[in-house]
Amino acid sequence: MTETRVAVVTGGASGIGEGIVRQLVCEGTSCVIADLNVARAEALAAELGEGVVALRVDVTQEADVAGAVDLAVSRFGRLDCMFNNAGMLGAVGSLVDHTLDAWNATMDVLLTSVFLGTREAARVMIAQGGGSVVNTSSTAGVRGGLGPHAYTVAKFGVVGLTESAAVELSTHGIRVNAVAPGRTVSGLTAGLIAGDPDDVATTAAHMASRSRNGRAAYPQDVAAAAVFLASEAAWYINGACLVVDGAGEVLGEKASRYYGTPMSLVGPAVRKPGTA
Ligand SMILES: NC(=O)c1ccc[n+]([C@@H]2O[C@H](COP(=O)([O-])OP(=O)(O)OC[C@H]3O[C@@H](n4cnc5c(N)ncnc54)[C@H](O)[C@@H]3O)[C@@H](O)[C@H]2O)c1
Repeated sequence: MTETRVAVVTGGASGIGEGIVRQLVCEGTSCVIADLNVARAEALAAELGEGVVALRVDVTQEADVAGAVDLAVSRFGRLDCMFNNAGMLGAVGSLVDHTLDAWNATMDVLLTSVFLGTREAARVMIAQGGGSVVNTSSTAGVRGGLGPHAYTVAKFGVVGLTESAAVELSTHGIRVNAVAPGRTVSGLTAGLIAGDPDDVATTAAHMASRSRNGRAAYPQDVAAAAVFLASEAAWYINGACLVVDGAGEVLGEKASRYYGTPMSLVGPAVRKPGTA
């Protein structure tokens, strides 16, 4: 009989993290939902049954993150997958107006948290002989200019940490990968777009109207990629960052200016006969 797999999902109470939890549970994985919003985490755990437990965790706090990993081990006996996913938008506005406090607070939630989660997971996984870490970056962490300054820097940092940790931890049988979602319907984006974190319908319609393929991305679309990276099927994928944006941001917005115009050939090879 194979052992039940065990995961910790930070920010697992809503949005992409909730999508990850739901998919893991469908596949029979036990989960710790580690979230600041403990009421929502507890409601989700109650809905999903005894293989899921909720814990109030602030991912900026060392002891909290260690506590989530320790709970996975004490309750379920091991830790196979760590999803460092919790996040917020953080500091927005002109760079010249940014305060150091707002900058540091953004880094704490979006980047230092991923360091803490990776370190605490590695502590258990090294002793255990292996495991998998999946970090949530963003298209803003792959290409500049898609998000606020501090958010962009933190999400680029998540990709860098994913790569460096993968190189070191691979010798212990631990894989570290990242997903880089584009705009995805969630409480975070609904708050920005519709002014109400629960207004999924307005947010989805807005995103679909602006996407290249006419579809909005939902948390389950990103969760599918994240859960795949954590799975045995991805056993040789390590240090990768999987962009999940429907070719809409990292590739699409870059090249789209060339695709909507009539066909022409532009370049020095195109000369009128008789010209130099
Ligand atoms: N939605 C998008 O368009 C999008 C795009 C790219 C990347 N992301 C990233 O995906 C991740 C999840 O975002 P989402 O869109 O699902 O947002 P969301 O607001 O729906 O979920 C974020 C969750 O993180 C939790 N959280 C926030 N701060 C925390 C803290 N300090 N400690 C513990 N939990 C905390 C919240 O309570 C919430 O449950 C974030 O890292 C975000 O940056 C989102």
